[in-house]
Amino acid sequence: MTKVLVLYYSSYGHIEKMAQAVADGVREAGAEVAVKRVPELVPQQLAEQSGYKMDQTAEIATVGELETYDAIIVGTPTRYGNMASQMKNFWDQTGGVWFAGKLIGKVGSVFTSTASQHGGQETTITSTQTVLFHHGMVIVGLPYSFAGLVGLDEVSGGTPYGASTLAGGDGSRQPSENELAGARFQGKHVAQIAGKLAS
Ligand SMILES: Cc1cc2nc3c(=O)[nH]c(=O)nc-3n(C[C@H](O)[C@H](O)[C@H](O)COP(=O)(O)O)c2cc1C
Repeated sequence: MTKVLVLYYSSYGHIEKMAQAVADGVREAGAEVAVKRVPELVPQQLAEQSGYKMDQTAEIATVGELETYDAIIVGTPTRYGNMASQMKNFWDQTGGVWFAGKLIGKVGSVFTSTASQHGGQETTITSTQTVLFHHGMVIVGLPYSFAGLVGLDEVSGGTPYGASTLAGGDGSRQPSENELAGARFQGKHVAQIAGKLAS
């Protein structure tokens, strides 16, 4: 069975929610999915003061397990148009995996969250994809066959590079139905392609 890892970091829960939707899409494709987080790096007291969502129950991923999946779908909120340092720190520990070429030919994909509409969704996704390219992964985005990419009737995330959501300046906006549908579509699409490649 095709095995997919949804690997995420989330401070306030938006990416956590998107990760669950991505995982639902993977399951729809009949693949096996694990949803795991990377470790928090912000001191606990500061995280609590900043209102971080502290009750996230997803297991912490290890670098060693990456090679056991056919696809890895990375979810990270934007930090100044780039991935969060927590996620970068995780990938910066994958030198041995890179050296041994363990991820070459596997599928890689990325989804994100920003506070504002033009706050750097595309740059966060594509700069995160760069890391996956260096690992030799086959990059998959969110195709326009997901009709929710082109609607103009509501404010929505969603890019051809990967699913996305808008959290709002104070984080109060939650992923919309359209954004969650994009996340599910991406999960299913990645799992289907990974299945074809693995066979
Ligand atoms: C240090 C820092 C930098 C950020 N940079 C941006 C940014 O460049 N553009 C933007 O729209 N939001 C920015 N944000 C907002 C986060 O992207 C937002 O809180 C996040 O997408 C919410 O996802 P989460 O609930 O999964 O953490 C930043 C937040 C922090 C703490």
